Amino acid sequence: MENKLLKIKENTLGELKIITNLKDLEALKTKVLGRKGEMSDILRGIKDLSDDEKKKIGALANTVKNELTEAIDAVEKGFNKGTTVKIDISEPGVSYKTGHLHPISEVKKEVEDIFASMGFSVVEGPELDNEYNNFDSLNIPKTHPARDMQDTFFVKGLNYVMRTHTSNTQNRVYKNFKPPFQVIIPGKCFRNEATDASHDIAFHQVEGVVVGKDISLAHIKGTMKEFLSTLFKKEVLVRFRPGFFPFVEPGLELDFSCLLCDGKGCPVCKKRGWVEFMGCGMIHPEVLKMGGIDTNQFNGFAFGFGLTRLVMMRYGIEDIRHFHGGDLRFIEQF
Ligand code: FA5
Repeated sequence: MENKLLKIKENTLGELKIITNLKDLEALKTKVLGRKGEMSDILRGIKDLSDDEKKKIGALANTVKNELTEAIDAVEKGFNKGTTVKIDISEPGVSYKTGHLHPISEVKKEVEDIFASMGFSVVEGPELDNEYNNFDSLNIPKTHPARDMQDTFFVKGLNYVMRTHTSNTQNRVYKNFKPPFQVIIPGKCFRNEATDASHDIAFHQVEGVVVGKDISLAHIKGTMKEFLSTLFKKEVLVRFRPGFFPFVEPGLELDFSCLLCDGKGCPVCKKRGWVEFMGCGMIHPEVLKMGGIDTNQFNGFAFGFGLTRLVMMRYGIEDIRHFHGGDLRFIEQF
């Protein structure tokens, strides 16, 4: 039996040296190590041997089996290496899609950077807020039309609303900053109104508040002219029109000169030469007082503009509803 084992080993190692392909190797493996192979034959015969022989042949059989398994595996590995798929380096590569910032995030970041460079702090307020912050603290009485069900998403049974404007954060800013200060508050707002090309139920605004000594309307004009000219990388003109918001007095609307026609009149500015941009004004003394600001020493201005509409202008997007349409073909264009 010992001789038989050594013969199997010798023959197999000899065959392994001249074998040229995987198929022959598989056949050899089955012949020697398979369930009905030569080695199994030997192992099955061991039970009929004397105890001494059992020990001796058993140990030898195991050693031979392990040696042959290793040798066959090594040759197999060699073949597998040789069969690696060849790479054609002249073939065009597969391009992977990478993500990118949403156009609103992109412009929001730009706006924040410009205001930060002008000395403004950037703060955030809550999207779900109590009625005090969204209305009362802004001098909007219970009877004001802005509190009407049509404009506001009220939370059933609670004193909470989805904020209708970023002005909801004004009172918190007044209570937490020590004058003089200048702050912008970018964020999402929600209104319960019918949608059209320029109105959505969720949109972004940027609020600004500046509180200090001897602030005047000229500071609003100067600030916005500087901001818009930096954003659009060209000289932009601004103008005031009268406006009304309960939390500013006087209240104003600010327009800027149309960038497409340089104020000559075109379809974008509806031939006016000016684009309506934002509400603003001198902060109402009552509003400052509710925020704990000493109105004998300090006054200030506030503004609020639609960031979403600014993004539309920047990229020539004609319908605000594309932003929440969920169509990747829209987003992939930026
Ligand atoms: C306000 O929300 C005031 N809080 C702005 C303000 C702040 C005035 C501080 C004075 C002092 P208004 O409702 O006009 O104002 O909204 C401001 C801007 O938000 C609009 O000019 C517009 O760009 C944007 N906006 C308002 N409603 C929508 C809407 N449904 N969809 C998209 N943008 C909107």
